[in-house]
Amino acid sequence: MQITLEVKPYAGVETDALVTYVFEDAESGPVAGRVAEIDAGAGGLLKRLASSGELTGKTLEFTLIHAPAGLKAARLLLVGAGKREGFNGATLRKIAGAALRYLKARSARKFGFLVREDGATAEAAQALGEAFITANFETDKYKTEKKNGKEIESAVVLGYSQGEKAAGEKGLAVGKIIADAQNFTRDLVNEPSNKLTPRILAEKAEAMAREAGLGLEILNEKKIAELKMGALLSVAQGSVEPPRMIVATYTPANAKPDAPVIGLVGKAVTFDTGGISIKPADGMEKMKYDMAGGATMLGAIRALAALKPSVKVICVVPATENMPGGKAQKPGDIQTAMSGKTIEVLNTDAEGRLILADAITYAKQLGVTHIVDAATLTGAIVVALANVNVGVFGSNREFTDRLLASAKAAGEKMWELPMDDEYREFIKGSFADIQNIGSGKGGGSITGAWFIREFAGDTPWIHLDIAGTAWNDDAKPWLAKGPTGVGLRTLVHLVQTY
Ligand code: BES
Ligand code: MN
Ligand code: ZN
Repeated sequence: MQITLEVKPYAGVETDALVTYVFEDAESGPVAGRVAEIDAGAGGLLKRLASSGELTGKTLEFTLIHAPAGLKAARLLLVGAGKREGFNGATLRKIAGAALRYLKARSARKFGFLVREDGATAEAAQALGEAFITANFETDKYKTEKKNGKEIESAVVLGYSQGEKAAGEKGLAVGKIIADAQNFTRDLVNEPSNKLTPRILAEKAEAMAREAGLGLEILNEKKIAELKMGALLSVAQGSVEPPRMIVATYTPANAKPDAPVIGLVGKAVTFDTGGISIKPADGMEKMKYDMAGGATMLGAIRALAALKPSVKVICVVPATENMPGGKAQKPGDIQTAMSGKTIEVLNTDAEGRLILADAITYAKQLGVTHIVDAATLTGAIVVALANVNVGVFGSNREFTDRLLASAKAAGEKMWELPMDDEYREFIKGSFADIQNIGSGKGGGSITGAWFIREFAGDTPWIHLDIAGTAWNDDAKPWLAKGPTGVGLRTLVHLVQTY
């Protein structure tokens, strides 16, 4: 799909559909501003639709008009954008993505998207680039019969003046970089575990790093053992597939000597059976997405390689299967992590925090000054926040506030949970320094976070629990069913604030 921005009168654009959006407005009604202009050309048809109640501007209401008078486009598609006051980049992304999927389902191949008056900004163009590319992503890679060849060939952004063009094109280019990275992440998450073992993930990361111009180091099982990464090894020992520790590094040309070094650490359990504490069969197939945190961090650093921020970023992804093989660890086993801390493994299904423990220790050894980890860590976060918000946990007020501000700017919903010292007590060990699950007092996502924090120590740290948000169980009008790539946009924004 080709996406361009063109400065020309929208009425003369020959295309399968001209798309724009209308607001729910008590005073003017949905037909106002640029849409009133279109209405004048169409002989008042839109006003008639509005007074009949068919066109209201309600969010994601679609009104399709064929052969609209006054336009060269074959169709006019009006998408409801809700109330003007609440309109923002997140709404624009949703309605633009939904418009693309709506038109694709109706075999359109080309469309123009007209931004509204006062809407021709760099941010809007970025949101549109992001929306079109992420909405166009399909999960039919392994279907031999594709959706009968329905493909969008090109999208043109319209409504920018000559003076607004340069800013718009810059925004569009940034949006493309970020959305391509998000789809790279989603592609990895979508892969089933037989097609994406830890070794294959490492190969894919290597290919990505080569293409993006990133530094790359892969630790194999021998190197992992040499470095005494006992927590990661304890999870991996139940599988015949060896683990990998994937390290991708972005080094800016212009880093200041005292600049921070951001560590992006992502859980990549390519399949989580639960191990000896095995999971029920019902829904277990979904555990192929237990590597979404790692895929998100690889996608984020891929985007950063192209956006070139001025801080160094080190991405560390521990990759393993969690299997109940004959050599698997058993409940009660005590492991020594790379940091030297001993861990009593009371539940082998709480494996994400184990592999993150060693990844964080390694990241610190590599010199990171700030850490963000992302992980499909707990079912409890789905209970707390459903599939709406990412769970946020942090050890440093300033750093956490910065991330929450980035989430807002990037239009990703995130919600902070408390990290009071009381919760730390839950993981105090009886027979080792700490235990990997809480002692039955609830707060499952917080105990998981506290476990990881033990290894981050004094290094400012944030944990994102994406178990509820990394996977869409149902398709959304703007996004296919399956992997979402959540978190990536926020992380890319966060790094760029330094
Ligand atoms: N990968 C799971 C968490 C998960 C659950 C992700 C549901 C996506 C959807 C994680 O490794 C896990 O099994 N967590 C356990 C922890 C428990 C044993 C303390 C859980 O949430 O049940
Ligand atoms: Mn598990
Ligand atoms: Zn898991």
